Amino acid sequence: MDPVDVEKVLSELTLSEKVALTAGLDFWHTVPVPRLGIPSLRMSDGPNGIRGTKSFNSIPAACFPCATGLGATWDAELLTKVGKLMGEEAKAKGAHIILGPTINIQRSPLGGRGFESYSEDGVLSGTLAGHYCLGVKEEKVVATLKHFVCNDQEHDRLGVNSIVTQRALREIYLLPFQIALKMSSPGAIMTAYNKVNGIHVSEDKFILNDILRKEWGWKGLVMSDWYGTYSTSTAINAGQDLEMPGETKWRGYALEHAVSTHKVAPHVLDERVQNVLELVNLAAKSGVPENAPEKGLDRPEDRALLRRTASESIVLLKNEGSILPFDKSKPIAVIGPNSKISTYCGGGSAFLVPYYAVSPFEGVSAASSSEVRFAQGSYGHKELPVLGPLLKSPDGKPGYIFRTYNEPPSAENREAIDERHLLSSNTLLMDYINPKIKSETFYVDMEGTFTPEDSGIYDFSVTVVGSGKLYIDGELVVDNSKNQKRGTAFFSSGTVEVFGSKELKAGQTYKVLFQFGSTPTGDVPGREGSVFGPGAYRFAGCRRVALQDSIAQAVELASKTEQVVIFAGLNSDWESEGYDRENMDLPPGTDELISKVLAANPKAAVVIQSGTPVTMPWADEAQALVQAWYGGNETGNGIADVLFGDVNPSGKLPLTFPVRLQDNPSYLNYRSENGRVLYGEDVYVGYRFYEKTEKPVLFPFGHGLSYTTFTRSDLQLTTSKDNTVSLSLTVTNTGTRAGAEVVQVYVLPAPTNSINRPPRELKAFKKVVLQPGESKSVALDLDKKVATSFWNEIRDAWASEEGTYEVLVTGTGGKEDVLKAKFEVEKTAYWKGL
Ligand code: BGC
Repeated sequence: MDPVDVEKVLSELTLSEKVALTAGLDFWHTVPVPRLGIPSLRMSDGPNGIRGTKSFNSIPAACFPCATGLGATWDAELLTKVGKLMGEEAKAKGAHIILGPTINIQRSPLGGRGFESYSEDGVLSGTLAGHYCLGVKEEKVVATLKHFVCNDQEHDRLGVNSIVTQRALREIYLLPFQIALKMSSPGAIMTAYNKVNGIHVSEDKFILNDILRKEWGWKGLVMSDWYGTYSTSTAINAGQDLEMPGETKWRGYALEHAVSTHKVAPHVLDERVQNVLELVNLAAKSGVPENAPEKGLDRPEDRALLRRTASESIVLLKNEGSILPFDKSKPIAVIGPNSKISTYCGGGSAFLVPYYAVSPFEGVSAASSSEVRFAQGSYGHKELPVLGPLLKSPDGKPGYIFRTYNEPPSAENREAIDERHLLSSNTLLMDYINPKIKSETFYVDMEGTFTPEDSGIYDFSVTVVGSGKLYIDGELVVDNSKNQKRGTAFFSSGTVEVFGSKELKAGQTYKVLFQFGSTPTGDVPGREGSVFGPGAYRFAGCRRVALQDSIAQAVELASKTEQVVIFAGLNSDWESEGYDRENMDLPPGTDELISKVLAANPKAAVVIQSGTPVTMPWADEAQALVQAWYGGNETGNGIADVLFGDVNPSGKLPLTFPVRLQDNPSYLNYRSENGRVLYGEDVYVGYRFYEKTEKPVLFPFGHGLSYTTFTRSDLQLTTSKDNTVSLSLTVTNTGTRAGAEVVQVYVLPAPTNSINRPPRELKAFKKVVLQPGESKSVALDLDKKVATSFWNEIRDAWASEEGTYEVLVTGTGGKEDVLKAKFEVEKTAYWKGL
């Protein structure tokens, strides 16, 4: 792709070409204008990996830990490496633009997409996002900061009005964008779906023009979130350059008309088009050709980086009596719902098909040199697990045969017009294109065989956009074809999950047939508005377990084995897009399993996988407790590295884990009520609230243990003429293992400040690796003005007020060795900008 001469091209484009350039071509591409050498750009989702353009039968990709896991590394340099590999993965998928990072704020532990953003703190989130973008930039690929701004819940996400003070908007929600932009100036920003203070962000001149472009001086492209454009002139006039995806709903003829009726001035349209053309030139630098074929990389060095990132993300929450690390030469019992599945990723648009995904059981088995025992205990799924990978096609391979027909199953002598071998039975068909399909109504038969390992009653389920019937050996077990009810599946476009069951015998082979009909064959209310075109399907199933018997087996195993680890948590059903979690609890049965296993063997280690906090009523009983997030391809290996001590844990919580849901600051105001949500906690989000109210938490922000010990000493503080406060200190590894320490620098408000402020706020951090006994000098700089400012609503500016400010330096172990120093701001100053 060659760059274009923006000025020249702009003067040669016709009105309809200009208008066409302001909207997408299809789901993932921009519109080309070949006559003027303007290519089509490709975009792909990217908070934790680059899925590519295909939802149907997609090409596998590298999957990094979810963003809260990346946030827990507190490792800016690592994030640059992550961003660089994301850039390379984007190139492999022929993508010029990555739709990430996500840098919204976890107001509540319940946010369906909380796992997609780094932290409840803007400095941590913005700094990590900035470094991620720098890595992406090394590959000359374009990163997109999203979702700008206050898209902090899923409930009613397209319409909800986030009512937020200007102060909280600046200090909490805009801050990560401000920092990441300053640090890395990425090429694109995606507007949020929601309103802020009464106006949809995609139509908000104040946010898009006055703040982003004028005050921050940003020159990149503003694109909509998918189907997040709601008007023609208003969005264009506010500064939203690109409507995504295509085909356009709001531009095209409507925009041409708006220009000819002076609703949109020609120069305003030119500004939008200019930003699209500048993006083309930025993307052209990547060297990625137009419409490139998609492939995977999966190189050994990438696997190593993914494994390092997975293990660095893990947070050791408790380790009383040094139960961890385990001894590889002793038998180990692996228990729990997350053991044998790889819970590698959250749900929604962040979800992708990984090159491979290592389960915790596989990771532990690969690392252990002794016997690895197993008990299921309880299940952790919300929807039944997908059946596809458990089936076999006639050639004996895992998966099933997918055959498409124009006629319904009742038609005689119908002929298949497509035949494929597929693995996953959780599939969006929006990009399933087959020229032989004659109309919107078509049918697919999916067939495979299932040979259960255990006898018993099996539950099966079907969820669709369209219609679906599941047969086992010719018997209709689940019918989801009529009287459909709308549920939350498929971004809330699908039906509820419909169930059936059948008794099966171990070792016997059953024929499974799933008959699917495309969208028009369903009768779910509102299907006409579905964005999924042909439809979507999910068929699933597993053996019904008698919970008490299964827990009893786990307890029995735990009482007989010295080393025990329980793997439990959430998964991509619980944490996904389009809905929030209903409560903060682990799936039904999990708490009982953990409590009973701990009672039988108090030294059992508990490993929780979730993207956001969960309640842990058994936390006092657990002596060893680990937070392992969704770890990407290397989930199981990363966890095993920490459990057996091949990696010394260094992760720190990027968000507070409250004791109970009711304790969190957004508790009274978290969902859309009559179309609005009040950000009533103001700037007191996360640790700012718990510290101000001295409310006990389960685990605080910044907490995380190590297998070694550290001390901090000799804090020196100097202020230079350019108002930089330079800190230096010595960090020593006082233990017997190599390990990494995260130096956390907080600034306290001056006692003389004119307004109420959080007791302390994170302003800088640095990770250092230390050999046993080693000391290192660590230097960090604070911009005095930035580190002391709050948003003054009367001045409509940041205010750095004169006074004495205290600096606290903490690290592993929290309250011990907190170093303190003070500096002065001599004169109050107000400022704006980046
Ligand atoms: C999400 C975006 C995503 C887009 C494309 C939307 O539903 O909110 O984050 O980039 O879909 O998948």
